[in-house]
Amino acid sequence: MHLPQGPVTYKYIEVGKTLYQALSTRTPRFPPRVAYVMLSSLFQEKRETVTVYDPFCGNGVILCTAYLLFSKKIKKIIGADLHPVVLETARRNFRWMKEHNAFEERLRAIQAYKTENSELKKTYQERCRLIFNHAQQICLDVELLQRDAAQIQEHLAAIDGEVVLVTDPPYAHNDHWNPKDGLESADFGPLEPFLQQVAIAPNVTALLICYRVNQPIRGLLERYFVVTPLGGTKGRAIYRCEPR
Ligand SMILES: C[S@@+](CC[C@H](N)C(=O)[O-])C[C@H]1O[C@@H](n2cnc3c(N)ncnc32)[C@H](O)[C@@H]1O
Repeated sequence: MHLPQGPVTYKYIEVGKTLYQALSTRTPRFPPRVAYVMLSSLFQEKRETVTVYDPFCGNGVILCTAYLLFSKKIKKIIGADLHPVVLETARRNFRWMKEHNAFEERLRAIQAYKTENSELKKTYQERCRLIFNHAQQICLDVELLQRDAAQIQEHLAAIDGEVVLVTDPPYAHNDHWNPKDGLESADFGPLEPFLQQVAIAPNVTALLICYRVNQPIRGLLERYFVVTPLGGTKGRAIYRCEPR
């Protein structure tokens, strides 16, 4: 089999193109650039290897980006999502990066895409080959679990060593959300209980979080953390949150 050599970049890690997407759910496509910006800001400093945990992992874009581009700085990868279909998609994404049969299946699935543009299919398949080839050199434990992020405290306590959370949580629903209402009346779903528990977990040293720019959450984050805005990209603002 032809296995091209070459650098893998975040641009190759795309839901619905190289990665599988959970089509039956409304989980939106997540831009790999946002994952890359969050992870780079974390790993640009020299540090001991850490556990990277995405508690709202969806299809797994952040985790796949961490696995492929930052594996040397990571001790373990943990992902969780409440939705079983989404979680199975994240598992399939790791499976095809690691296992030959699953990789071949991924190439066939791309071949079956409903598009007349065969050049595009070839591009995605070539990117998959690069990703698969690169992933063969990586030896890193990945655990994907069905868990409620609003009850993360016990799970964090069971993890050994330093944990950094890197995540793209569910957004406030438009029908619940009106920025003019201010923070008190906004419905952040599982986000607030999640933040409360993360803030008191002794082994969490940083939380990297992105959120839609039109739904400001800085005030909410500042209730629990020291917050550094890291700018934004692709319609999302990125914040680094550290314990007080
Ligand atoms: C914005 S999406 C994340 C998309 C993800 N970045 C990706 O690569 O596909 C938010 C995810 O949070 C999950 N979710 C919602 N409430 C949750 C909860 N209480 N605990 C864990 N996951 C939850 C949803 O199923 C959804 O997959």
